Amino acid sequence: MRTGSVRIIFYSAFMAHEPIIETEGLSKVFTVKKAQVAAVSDLTFTAARGELVAFLGPNGAGKSTSLRMLTTLILPTSGTASVVGHDIRRDPAEVRARIGYVGQLTSGSFAQRVRDELLSQGKFYGMGKRDSIRRADELIESLDLGSFAGRAVQQLSGGQKRRLDVALGLMHAPPLLFLDEPSTGLDPQSRANLWDHILELRRQHGTTVFLTTHYLEEADRYAERVMIMDKGRIIADDNAAALKSNLAGDVLTFGFTDLEQASRARPILNSLAQTEISDANTSLSLTAPNGDRLLPVIVRELDAAGITVHSATGVPPTLDDVFLALTGRTLREAGEGAGTDAETDADTEATASVAAEKTGVL
Ligand SMILES: Nc1ncnc2c1ncn2[C@@H]1O[C@H](COP(=O)(O)OP(=O)(O)OP(=O)(O)O)[C@@H](O)[C@H]1O
Ligand SMILES: [Mg+2]
Repeated sequence: MRTGSVRIIFYSAFMAHEPIIETEGLSKVFTVKKAQVAAVSDLTFTAARGELVAFLGPNGAGKSTSLRMLTTLILPTSGTASVVGHDIRRDPAEVRARIGYVGQLTSGSFAQRVRDELLSQGKFYGMGKRDSIRRADELIESLDLGSFAGRAVQQLSGGQKRRLDVALGLMHAPPLLFLDEPSTGLDPQSRANLWDHILELRRQHGTTVFLTTHYLEEADRYAERVMIMDKGRIIADDNAAALKSNLAGDVLTFGFTDLEQASRARPILNSLAQTEISDANTSLSLTAPNGDRLLPVIVRELDAAGITVHSATGVPPTLDDVFLALTGRTLREAGEGAGTDAETDADTEATASVAAEKTGVL
């Protein structure tokens, strides 16, 4: 009994640190009309089995390109990676057999019905008929596909198709799932269902999930690790809480009754927060880690100095504030003009089955 529990603890501790993705200097340069686009540069990281990693970054940052290298859809220009114990260059088929992938593009138009599409996917992955049916029904239920399970895929709306894409990627319950913007285009209810399903998969099977999203609050809430990419490079990698408190901090704003009170308050704020203070009319703002604790201290000190504090607010940071602190741009600004509509570099797509990617299947 005792030995058993020790073994279980040892096993889970081991599992928690066992790497499932290991990359070293992974880079991708596309050639577009003789110009070189460095889409991903020197991507080096390790993800442990069971982790839920959110991969963030503005449009054109290199997220999808990274995922497409890791899922063996495109060859890296340089660098190496091992995914579920297999080298992406030497053993792409072994990698593909052990991962699920939902690409950024939604599925094309299939004449096949939704439920049959799921069953074909199960067959493709070598699942038995009974298992496929059970799993398809489970996914139809949890991703709320029931009302259109008998319809042809080409008749679905964009959001319905996206839900089917995700279901296809989850069909064979792989140990590692790559999801490229799985929730984009989904209504709030479907997004919530999708997240319930992802979290349930982890609980039941310890699935490792590596996903990109532009919904920062999703990353903040669900991912235990957030990697931020900008211009092809990782610029931050930690849990959301640490990123926010180390790099951004809460924004505290104090309102005063007049300019004279505000100018008297400034040195007090300075001495307590030792950070840059910005002003707007009769209010002063500063950014500080642990602002929730600092705010009442400042109010008390101002009060003791006979300064009337008209209002005091603390706004916790978002992951966008983290990006702003790191790059001087917000995620939205950074994405502008950096779209992903580049022409395809045909040579580098040699290993990819684009049709397969479009169906969300490898
Ligand atoms: N097949 C390709 N041929 C040429 N350039 C490409 C190709 N695919 C991507 N790129 C370029 O590589 C860079 C990274 O693109 P990528 O699709 O990886 O960005 P992303 O982070 O996924 O962006 P988004 O959030 O818009 O999906 C961009 O400059 C893009 O134009
Ligand atoms: Mg992308």
